[in-house]
Amino acid sequence: MITKRFTFGQTAQAAEYLKQGQLVAFPTETVFGLGAIANNERAVASVYQAKGRPSDNPLIVHVCHKKDLFRYSNIANEAQAAIAKKLTDQFWPGPLTLIVPTKAGIFGPTVTGGLNTVGIRMPDHDFTLAVIRETGFPIVGPSANLSGKPSPTTVDHVLHDFDGKIAGVLDSQPTHIGVESTVLDISNPEELAILRPGAITLKDLRNALPNQRIIDATQQIAEDSKEHPKAPGMKYRHYSPHQEVIAISPAKLLELIDSKQGLCPESAVIASDDILSHLDADLPTFSLGANEATATQLLFAGLRAFDDNDQIKRLYVELLADTEVNTAYRNRLLKAASKKIES
Ligand code: TXA
Ligand code: MG
Repeated sequence: MITKRFTFGQTAQAAEYLKQGQLVAFPTETVFGLGAIANNERAVASVYQAKGRPSDNPLIVHVCHKKDLFRYSNIANEAQAAIAKKLTDQFWPGPLTLIVPTKAGIFGPTVTGGLNTVGIRMPDHDFTLAVIRETGFPIVGPSANLSGKPSPTTVDHVLHDFDGKIAGVLDSQPTHIGVESTVLDISNPEELAILRPGAITLKDLRNALPNQRIIDATQQIAEDSKEHPKAPGMKYRHYSPHQEVIAISPAKLLELIDSKQGLCPESAVIASDDILSHLDADLPTFSLGANEATATQLLFAGLRAFDDNDQIKRLYVELLADTEVNTAYRNRLLKAASKKIES
């Protein structure tokens, strides 16, 4: 199969492929997704198959209007509706996935993993929104990477994993946020819970809903029993290149750079420009740019940068400071890392 690169002018053709049950990868503001029309169980099943994704890990459904949240889920009471309205008004289109009760007869069990809730989001990307609108029904979209690998933030990443295996990809620039959406469970209005950190932080959500109880369940999920995890995806190994990943604070990395025998050969350093400027050893490097936003945008590209280089056995990756805006960066890096060195 030849994987077609659709341009913006070919929106209708891309939608036609989706309507026929084919897989088409699409850009969002976070990462690229692997799309299939959400009312075709066979097409949705082939998403799991292409990714090698465990079937108990449900998919996010992508919609093209704020009101689609109400159309495709069962927001039953007023409290829940008020929360949903406030959040979609403030954050959609954008990097916020809402977990809401399912409505009978809309999405099949392959989409929801058989749960009585479903994850829905409206991505902030004109090309993708136009394709969903043209398709006429929401599309599922897990990140467009082989299961366990770092999520794709460029068309090249998508093609690295899926060239010749999917029908097409919407050709577009690298994604600008770089880590996946915040997943917020609003199925219990008494206590909203963040299941996965993203660009929209706990503080942003608490500011939007000052009278609501909102918790960060990410820690709790990590420790939860493996049988009934709240976010089924959280129990699997994630974002891992074939090298060992060492997450290391700027101070510790500079110490290693300064000490003579610090960084062994066969290592690569993935860090911001400021840190790389101290490195005169002849090690391969990947720049995370000038600030925390560029670091977040480029993290997955960095984890993929040495994928085809068997000489490199170890990646030292800068661990950003433990602040609110770095929550998602640290969450993804620490999932990929087998070792953390932090002062
Ligand atoms: O930014 C994103 O969210 C990207 C882009 C492509 O939209 N998509 C993405 O999808 O990251 P995926 O499938 O890789 O991650 C979906 C996460 C998983 O951790 C999954 O377990 C969780 O959302 N999830 C989906 N439905 C759920 C549900 N009903 N209850 C709890 N967690 C759910
Ligand atoms: Mg993923």
